[in-house]
Formats: sequence, C-alpha cells, structure tokens
Amino acid sequence: MATMRTVSSKTWGSPQLSLLFLLTFPLTALCADDSVLRFINPLIGSTNGGNVFAGATRPYGLAKAVADVDGQNTGGFSTDGSNVVGFSAVHDSGTGGNPSLGNFPLFPQLCPDDVVNNCDFRIGDRATPYIADSVTASPGSFAVELKSGIKTSMTSSEHAALFRFEYPSGGSEHPLILLDLTDLWKSRQNATISVDPETARMKGNGTFLPSFGAGSYVMHYCVDFFGGDVFDNGVWVNNRGGTEPKEFFVTRGFNLFYLEAGGWARFSGLPNNTLTARVGISFISADQACRSAKTEIPSPLDDFDRLVQEAESAWEEKLSPISINAGGASNALLTSFWSGIYRTMISPQNYTGENPKWDSGIPYFDSFYCIWDSFRVQHPLLTILDPAAQVQMVNSLLDMYKHEGWLPDCHMSLCNGWTQGGSNADVVLVDAYVKNLTGIDWELALQAIIQDAEVEPLEWAVHGRGGLQSWANLDYIPYLDFDPVGFGTNSRSISRTLEYAYNDYCLATLAQGLGHADLYGKYVARSTNWQNIWKSEQTSAIRGRDTGFTGFFQPKYQNGTFGFQDPIDCSALASFCSLTSNPSETFEASVWQYQFIVPHSMSTLIEFMGGETRFIDRLDFFHTSGLADISNEPVFSTVYLYHYAGRPGLSAKRVHTYIPSAFNATNGGLPGNDDSGSMGAFVAFGMLGLFPISGQDVYLISAPFFEAINITNPVTGKTAQIKTVGFDAGYKNVFIQNVTVNGKAWTKSWIGHALFTEGWTIEVVLGSQESSWGTKLEDRPPSWIKGTKRSRDTAVCLEVF
Ligand SMILES: *[C@@H]1O[C@H](CO)[C@@H](O)[C@H](O)[C@H]1NC(C)=O
Ligand SMILES: *[C@@H]1O[C@H](CO)[C@@H](O)[C@H](O)[C@H]1NC(C)=O
Ligand SMILES: *[C@@H]1O[C@H](CO)[C@@H](O)[C@H](O)[C@H]1NC(C)=O
Ligand SMILES: *[C@@H]1O[C@H](CO)[C@@H](O)[C@H](O)[C@H]1NC(C)=O
Ligand SMILES: *[C@@H]1O[C@H](CO)[C@@H](O)[C@H](O)[C@H]1NC(C)=O
Ligand SMILES: *[C@@H]1O[C@H](CO)[C@@H](O)[C@H](O)[C@H]1NC(C)=O
Ligand SMILES: *[C@@H]1O[C@H](CO)[C@@H](O)[C@H](O)[C@H]1NC(C)=O
Ligand SMILES: *[C@@H]1O[C@H](CO)[C@@H](O)[C@H](O)[C@H]1NC(C)=O
Ligand SMILES: *[C@@H]1O[C@H](CO)[C@@H](O)[C@H](O)[C@H]1NC(C)=O
Repeated sequence: MATMRTVSSKTWGSPQLSLLFLLTFPLTALCADDSVLRFINPLIGSTNGGNVFAGATRPYGLAKAVADVDGQNTGGFSTDGSNVVGFSAVHDSGTGGNPSLGNFPLFPQLCPDDVVNNCDFRIGDRATPYIADSVTASPGSFAVELKSGIKTSMTSSEHAALFRFEYPSGGSEHPLILLDLTDLWKSRQNATISVDPETARMKGNGTFLPSFGAGSYVMHYCVDFFGGDVFDNGVWVNNRGGTEPKEFFVTRGFNLFYLEAGGWARFSGLPNNTLTARVGISFISADQACRSAKTEIPSPLDDFDRLVQEAESAWEEKLSPISINAGGASNALLTSFWSGIYRTMISPQNYTGENPKWDSGIPYFDSFYCIWDSFRVQHPLLTILDPAAQVQMVNSLLDMYKHEGWLPDCHMSLCNGWTQGGSNADVVLVDAYVKNLTGIDWELALQAIIQDAEVEPLEWAVHGRGGLQSWANLDYIPYLDFDPVGFGTNSRSISRTLEYAYNDYCLATLAQGLGHADLYGKYVARSTNWQNIWKSEQTSAIRGRDTGFTGFFQPKYQNGTFGFQDPIDCSALASFCSLTSNPSETFEASVWQYQFIVPHSMSTLIEFMGGETRFIDRLDFFHTSGLADISNEPVFSTVYLYHYAGRPGLSAKRVHTYIPSAFNATNGGLPGNDDSGSMGAFVAFGMLGLFPISGQDVYLISAPFFEAINITNPVTGKTAQIKTVGFDAGYKNVFIQNVTVNGKAWTKSWIGHALFTEGWTIEVVLGSQESSWGTKLEDRPPSWIKGTKRSRDTAVCLEVF
C-alpha cells in the first residue's frame, strides 16, 4: 500500500456507496478505486515487535492463513527478513506471550532428483528465505514467493483456509507438500495423523499449550488437496519420510524430547504446477474440521476469488459505519487509521460451535489476549463500531463465568491466560453497562464482578484477585503480603492496588445503576484504597539528579510501614518488569507510569500531586524524560490527562507528539505489541479526536485528525457527526476554541456515548492557540471526590436537548 491517491474532501466508506458498487462492479475493481480497503495495510506492525497477524482472515474469524517465519513469529509472519518455515491456518494477533498457534503448517518443496528423502523435513532444514517485494497482504488475502521459486497465495473462510502453491515449472516431476505436527512455539505434547493413500487427505489432532496461559488444548485438522493426481504419500519423522505406515502417533519422550514429524504427499499432473490445499480446523473433532472445510469451500479450485471477495465484503461491512472527509490529511494517516480499526476486529475470535467444553447456545469468543490490554480502548471502540459483536463478547465472558466459575483476565485457545493486574473484565462489563448495550444479564454481571471483589480463588494467577483478606482488612495490597488463601505471583502490590481500586469503582457504578445502594457505598469506599499507598514525602531521582517531584506511590508492608521501589524502576530508564522476569511492585511499567492510573478520582490525585500546575509539570516530565513507554497500554490515558487539569489543548498537542512518530503506516509502525488491536484502537481514537475512559460514560474531546467524520450506530442507525471548523491538515490548528453539540454551545471537555447512540452532531472550532474552552472546573471530566461526583451530571448533559 505504498502508493495511494489523494482523497481530500471526499467521502469514504459510505454504506450506500459501497453497496451500490458491490452490486454493479467486480469487487477487485472496487478495491482498486474507491473502497476503503485500499487504506488497509495488514503489514503495519509486522516487524519491530508489533507481532500483528498480517495474513488472510475474516472479521473475528477462527481461520487465519499466513506464512510462518522463524524470526518474529508471534503472529506468524514478519517482514523482518527471516525465513519461511510453513503456511498455517490459525493465529493470534499482536500478542506478547510465546508465539501463538500456527498449528499444523504445510510446506511445499521440490525434492532434488525427485527423491523424497532429498527433501528437507525439519524446520531448521526446510527454512527458506522469501522474496521481500513479493509479499502482498490485503484484507482476506496474502501471498508471498519463496527464494525456492514457489509462490503461495492464501485466503480464509470462517473455519478453513485455502492455499495455492505454485511450483516453478521445469523442476521435479513430483512436487511435495508436507504437514508438520507442530505449532509456532513447538509446544506440541502429542499428535496424530492419518494419510489417505488415495486422496492424500491428512486428518488428525494435536495437544498443545496455550501461548500465555495454563493447561493445554486439543486442535483437530483436516487437509484436502486438489489440482493433480496423488503420486505417493506417507509420514515423516526427523528428516526421513516413508510411504508406510499411513497413520502415526507422536508424543514426547520421557525427557520431553521434541520429535519433528508429520505427513507428506507428492503429486503429478498439476495444472500450471499449482497445488491447492484446503485446511479445515476445529476444536471439536477432525470430522467437524472436514465438514466445515467442505461446507465453506465446496469447490476449492474455483472458490479462491469468491472467498477473497466475501472476505472483502465482510470487512467493508464492518468498516461501513465510518465515513471520512479527510480534508487533506495524508494517505499515510488514513492508512494508519483504517488499518488500526481493521486490526481491532481480527481478535477476539468467534469460536461459536467450536467449544468442546460446553454448548450453551450463546456465542463463544476466545483470544481475549489479554483484557488487561484490551479493556482500555479496544473494547470501547468495538462498542461504537460493532456493538452487536461487543454484546456477544460480553455474553461470552459471562458464559465463561457460568461454566468455568470465573471471568477471565486473559483467555486463549480454550485456556485461561495469566492475569496481569486487576480483574479487568469487570471494566469491560461495566463499560458496556454505562453505554447501554442491551441483551446482557446485568444481575449476572453484578454477581460475577462481586465474586472477583469478594472471593479469592485458589489460583488467582489466572482469574479473580489475590490478597483479598488484606484488601478487605487493610485497604491496600501489601508488599510481601501474607496470603495463604490463594496462589499467584506475590508481586505488583502497587499496580494491583490501583487496578483493584478502579475495578471496585466500576463495581460500585453497576451496583448503583441496578439500585443496590448498600453495595454502591461499600465499593465506592474501597475505590479510594489507592490513597493508602501514596507516600507523600517520596522523591524520585534519575542518575542521582532529583526530578523535583515529591509524593509517589510506594509499596507498603502489612504492618503499615512503607518499603521502597525506585519510582523509575520498570521504566525504559531502568529494567523491564513482568510476571516472571524481574517481578516488582509494578507490572510492566514504573511507579512514574502507575501514578496516573486513578481514572475515577483524578481531581483527588491532582491535589495529592500539589495542584494543577505541578500535575501538568509531572505529565510533561513523564512524557519528555524517557519515563513514558508509549509501547504499552497503561500509557494511553496519560496522553489525555491534561483534560482533568483544565488544559485539554495540551492533550491535543501531546497526541501529535506520538502520532505519527510512534504510530504510522510503515511495517515497523507500531511502538510495541499491538495486543489484539489495542494500539490500533489508540490510533483510531486519537484521530477521531475522542478518548474513552473505559468503565465510565466519558469520552475526552480533542481535535480530530480529519476535517469531518460520520459514525453510524449499526444498532440505532443514527449517525454521529464529528465536524471541524478551521481544520488544517498541517495540524497547526489543534486547539479547540469552541464546541457545539447539535448547534448549541458545549463547554464541557468531554461527552457521553449518547453522541453515538443518539446520533448527535459535534462541531469543534479549531485554532492555533490554546483557548479557555474546557478550562473551567465544572467543565472538566467527571471525577469522584469525597462522596460526590463532581461535574458528573448526566442530567444536566441531557437537559440541553
Ligand atoms: C497427550 O498429551 C496430553 C497433555 O500432556 C495428555 O493429557 C494426554 O493424555 C496425551 N495423550 C496421549 C494419547 O498420550
Ligand atoms: C485424536 O486422534 C486419535 C486418532 O484418530 C483419536 O484416537 C483420538 O481420540 C483423538 N483425540 C481427541 C482428543 O479427539
Ligand atoms: C493455467 O494458467 C493459464 C494462464 O494463466 C490459465 O488461463 C488457466 O486457467 C490455468 N489453468 C488452471 C487449471 O488453473
Ligand atoms: C455526514 O452525514 C451528513 C448527513 O447525511 C452528510 O451531509 C455529510 O456529508 C456526511 N459527512 C461525511 C464525512 O460523510
Ligand atoms: C459468531 O458466530 C456465530 C455462529 O456463526 C454467529 O451467530 C455470530 O453472529 C457471530 N458473531 C459475530 C460478531 O460475527
Ligand atoms: C514492618 O515490616 C517491615 C518488613 O518486615 C520491617 O522492615 C519494618 O521494620 C516493620 N515496621 C515496624 C514499625 O515494625
Ligand atoms: C514509525 O513508527 C515507528 C514505531 O513507533 C518508529 O520507530 C518510526 O520512527 C516511525 N517512523 C516515522 C517515519 O515516523
Ligand atoms: C465561542 O463561543 C462563545 C460563546 O458561545 C462566543 O462568545 C465566542 O465568540 C466563540 N469563540 C469563537 C472563537 O468562536
Ligand atoms: C442509557 O439509558 C439511560 C436510561 O434510559 C439514559 O438515562 C442514559 O442516558 C443512556 N445512556 C446512553 C449512553 O445512551
């Protein structure tokens, strides 16, 4: 997507327009010209640690086809110039754990002298470089040419992938394809394969480990080949293949030795030297994998273009709520924007009908990987653009609570993932509640969240919370807590205290909404627990020089005495801290970062920090000293917190210091793991000029990156219009002078979700200087303080209309 035409003052992605074109023109023509899909570059974040899935998928699809490499392969493919080792049909996107999925890869080869054992079977031996400029990626299709001369193109239906392998002509008479009983992480415990002697159909299953979680999962596959005649086939072990046996079971030895093994087949008479492979995947059975593949891809030799077109239409439809008048904004920015949104709909994945553990008739989603990342902006973006999907995801989380006993914090491949901080599924649920999503059992949600707050599970490493006795009795999570009730990494006392406090605030919100005044009182009181670990005399120095700021969160022992964690520890100025590497009292970020994570009580925090001016100094210092880590999710809100100190203009300015310098349309254009589209959602909100405070009915208003944006709510059909006056694509005018909503003055620096559900029109007047808009105390975003919620007055807000 390197070359794109200018689109200033044109409307993109209007549903009516797309539909009209779909009816009259072949889709490829549409994509080349007017479709918004030309602004989607799946390769953004395919190197430099973005770990995105760059291949062919449908929205939330289970099947995700791409080439797998031996370099940065967490999401399968990378443009890091490493070697291709296979082509597989299931992946995760943007994740930060071990390489995820990539099960049962195929790999095409020509065996020298047409001798099977002259082919390379093992990963290390078969690894082949790809031709960098042969890579093409677009929604629903992916293609690459290997240096061996073999060209592969692929697409996906919901549960199956279709691969076309084009061997170079004049090579071996009998091109070979192998299937490897492995995944990207080589986590296979045991696996089976049977190869049909006549058709070469390969069928079986394998037991693997989740890439950032506990337990194991079984995946089943069914691969059929089309195009030529089967010449011979069999299984392989290590670097040797044979035509007998045709069935095979592989496990780990007593010393866990990893045996490389799988199936192979050779073909003759391939038309145009092209072999077509259809790969069905199921978590239920191999027969179900065969069935879905056959149903979704009945004519593999003819279906490729149809599948690509269906995928494109599905993506078009998902993106159709948005329409933009770029106003001269660059194609690169448009590409960042649309691609960011696209990536938020790759995962979670729709595994409905594929859950072997229970079948409740409720849609089942998996790859919530992880909610600690996605609760902040990804789920809020889905709530705007695809509320029906968000409802299904929320119900799926509640269904997990019903059947597994707990809400997950992270969940992939039917397994629980590791909890990073609080019980943040609570926030996802309450965010859906305050935004009035319908079709959710809110009393069940309340019950699930209360359990998180009150009942400590034996293994709080994978769900719920730890240290709940201390939480209830001491009102903070102690440093080196004594906790014989449950088990988890006994670390992160600061970040867990902060996240639990916010989780309890969200619980209070839901309880109040459902009319439980007693519960509201209890949990809103606990939501102030963050104050108990504030050490007002704590200072912070960098390389011996005092930063000039006093008062930081610090770890506190059970006896009430403060311990010590250098406020810059776990920042880029010190060393990285995670669950297992250098576990500390803050998770994956410093005290400097976590000091800003009190989303419900910013006004009190600002007082703690010595008032507005000192608060703004702190934010500025954080963002300019190397302490802010823009590559990880906790940083997101800090870009906008100036709003709470009455300086929304500084938020707008800050956004532009990160977009596009840290988020752009290049292959390395993400600063860190996309985390299932979290980075993509951050970019999208940044450009929309809105930032959600997840768990609250609040969007902070900032300057959009485009002249005008329409967003049609797919449920109510109403269109929110975001318009600007004085827009300039050089972004000198990033300061809001004035705002009107539906033509009336809007002095608040924030707005609620009714903007979308009611289809309001917000018009922002932009200028090159900061103005007094949004500076008044009563116009700042809501902040809970001393038993009242200052300026959180939805009645006033509704009264305007
Ligand atoms: C396969 O591995 C899993 C996980 O280690 C184990 O539970 C199962 O019993 C194994 N199956 C066989 C047939 O060995
Ligand atoms: C995996 O396949 C083998 C061989 O067909 C079969 O015996 C076994 O039951 C399968 N495992 C599961 C979990 O379905
Ligand atoms: C082979 O390639 C030719 C030329 O590209 C094309 O016309 C023909 O349809 C192809 N045949 C098959 C069976 O794919
Ligand atoms: C938004 O919708 C309004 C009303 O239909 C229309 O006039 C305007 O052109 C649209 N703007 C964009 C950016 O699509
Ligand atoms: C998930 O799949 C099920 C079964 O096909 C379907 O009913 C549901 O609408 C899908 N959800 C989304 C958001 O596409
Ligand atoms: C509290 O406990 C810590 C850690 O065991 C210890 O260093 C400190 O001296 C104790 N404080 C008091 C007042 O006993
Ligand atoms: C694009 O983003 C990446 C990742 O944050 C950054 O390293 C790079 O410098 C940016 N490129 C440009 C041209 O801004
Ligand atoms: C902003 O709005 C106020 C009140 O509605 C008005 O007095 C003022 O002139 C406006 N300023 C600009 C720059 O439009
Ligand atoms: C949700 O519904 C309530 C009750 O009808 C209403 O007061 C509130 O404004 C709605 N909120 C949104 C975001 O639509």
